Amino acid sequence: MTRESWTTRLGFILAAVGSAVGLGNLWRFPWMTAENGGSAFLVVYLGIILLVGVPGLLAEFVIGRRSKRNPAGALYRLSNGSGSWGIVGLLGVFTALVLLSFYSVVGGWILRYVGASVTGAYFGNPGYFDAISFGAEAAAFHVAFLGLTSLIVVGGVRSGIEKATTVMTPLIVVMLAALAVWAISQSGADAGLAFYLDFDADYLQANPISVLQAAAGQALFTLSLGVGTMITYASYLGEDNSLAFDGSVIAILNTGVGVLAGLVVFPLLFALQGGLSETAAGGGPGALFVSVASAFQQVPFGQLLAVGFFGVVLLAALSSSISMLEIPVAYLVDEHDVSRRSATLGLAGLILVTGTVCALNPDLFTTVSGPVVDTLLTAGLAGFLVFAGWVLGGDALAEYGTGSGRIARALGVPWLWSIRTVLPVFLLVTLGLSLGLV
Ligand code: PFF
Repeated sequence: MTRESWTTRLGFILAAVGSAVGLGNLWRFPWMTAENGGSAFLVVYLGIILLVGVPGLLAEFVIGRRSKRNPAGALYRLSNGSGSWGIVGLLGVFTALVLLSFYSVVGGWILRYVGASVTGAYFGNPGYFDAISFGAEAAAFHVAFLGLTSLIVVGGVRSGIEKATTVMTPLIVVMLAALAVWAISQSGADAGLAFYLDFDADYLQANPISVLQAAAGQALFTLSLGVGTMITYASYLGEDNSLAFDGSVIAILNTGVGVLAGLVVFPLLFALQGGLSETAAGGGPGALFVSVASAFQQVPFGQLLAVGFFGVVLLAALSSSISMLEIPVAYLVDEHDVSRRSATLGLAGLILVTGTVCALNPDLFTTVSGPVVDTLLTAGLAGFLVFAGWVLGGDALAEYGTGSGRIARALGVPWLWSIRTVLPVFLLVTLGLSLGLV
């Protein structure tokens, strides 16, 4: 059977932006910024996106477009059958399963909040989030979210993923922009903006390492790097356009959405709630839900706006979760001749179980969604960079150059050397620091 490909270049870009834009932008990013020195953090974060994120994205694109395979098959084949490199690729497939296990639980919370916004169930009930976040009902909503994800993935690359993200991604941007305009125009919003974007250089100076770690972890997560998502999505490219151009567009849009999310969340909290609640200040998993939900309680048409807000979060989460499920599906389809339908069903069955375990166990959920994921992404991306830089080497440069314009081509050699040397070292040092090894 011939392998599927995207219908258009725009389809690929929107799918990749859909993967990148998710809970990482709408939930994690604003809090990380506020907790790590405001716009001082933003500067470090933008630097890492530019110097580590974009080159990393390009390395994954090159591997994917060159091999036209899932991560495991790509590394195995491009290394002429090296089992060890195959295992590095397989680690990505495994990471995708781990990621989806916890992401789908959060997806379930969002699904529940969309419904609860319609009925107003959480209005006047600050304990709502704690009551629903873990347990049998959380597991049931995780299963529902996983069902939606599987339904799109089973449709295939063109009729499933591309069709869905072509509608969802623009909708996310437009709805978020409208919400930001509304939030900023509320009286009292300035305090929120000041809190969000306050340039706290002292904080940065006092905590350079933790800020760097936070920024690096966030950069990888938000760009969906280190798992092989971008390898898989680029493997469906039919024609050779400039990867550097597409990668830059994806990084810019993704960063823009993160900043925009902060412009919704903080003005809203300060204008309507007079600041951050206890839970929100801790930035725990409940922050977005508890604080934003209670802010909506106080405005006219609050329920309607809340449906819109959680609706955006739901679309963003779905367009990311499909990219996670697509990795193991592509692996089974490419390497083991399993039909897309059986692969999707079988994997959904597996994640149904692992996600349920996360939904029933808050401690496990916290460990998996934090340190475990950070470690897997960092190690995974370091592996992909070394592979593209040293194993593919000149071929990586040739693949990068195909379809590129003059400026992108001029940056080819510096790109190759950065993914060969500085960037893997940077990632391994960050990893060592977070594991307490360095
Ligand atoms: N980038 C997504 C987000 O910001 O929510 C999360 C993600 C998706 C991470 C896909 C990794 C991945 F492979």
